[in-house]
Amino acid sequence: MDAPHDTTRINRLRQDFTGVESVWLFGYGSLIYKADFPYLERRRATIHGWSRRLWQGSHDHRGTFEHPGRVATLIPEEGAACVGMAYHVAPATFEHLDHREKNGYLRHEGVLDFGNGKSVAGLVYIAAQGNAAWLGPADDATLARHVAAASGPSGRNSDYVLHLARALRELGADDPHVFAVEARLRDLHGTG
Ligand code: SIN
Repeated sequence: MDAPHDTTRINRLRQDFTGVESVWLFGYGSLIYKADFPYLERRRATIHGWSRRLWQGSHDHRGTFEHPGRVATLIPEEGAACVGMAYHVAPATFEHLDHREKNGYLRHEGVLDFGNGKSVAGLVYIAAQGNAAWLGPADDATLARHVAAASGPSGRNSDYVLHLARALRELGADDPHVFAVEARLRDLHGTG
């Protein structure tokens, strides 16, 4: 039986890729810095109307069922812009991606802005408020303490946040939420 968070089957039914040769995917969390799948091309992109938050539970990568970690999701916010990485992939790549992003994430359709006057339609994995693995908001210090204490099959939860913060800087993206949790984590680790 699937875990209650497991969205693999639902995702497979969400888009019909019949006759489709390639799809743009927007990544805003680990998908920015860990591309463990083939892609034709990748570029910095922005999606509008969404903000990145460390409000989703990770039971399978950066935590466990007993102690889920915290990973990124997107929440709708008028006027917000979220910078990430867009990948041009073959539809078959979603078999791997659906498994990787199975902990509460659903594939949504969105518009990826390449910042040069060009936008494309694409897909993005979003874990919506109230999904079975949702942890929700907390203040920065609480988030950092939670992250510092969690770890799972893909490694320490703090490495997820530190890596994400570094990748965002490399993209020239300002993300006050992620950077605030990163700073608290560095305080906790004594590397601030
Ligand atoms: C993403 O990176 O786009 C989704 C969240 C994650 O895998 O960290």
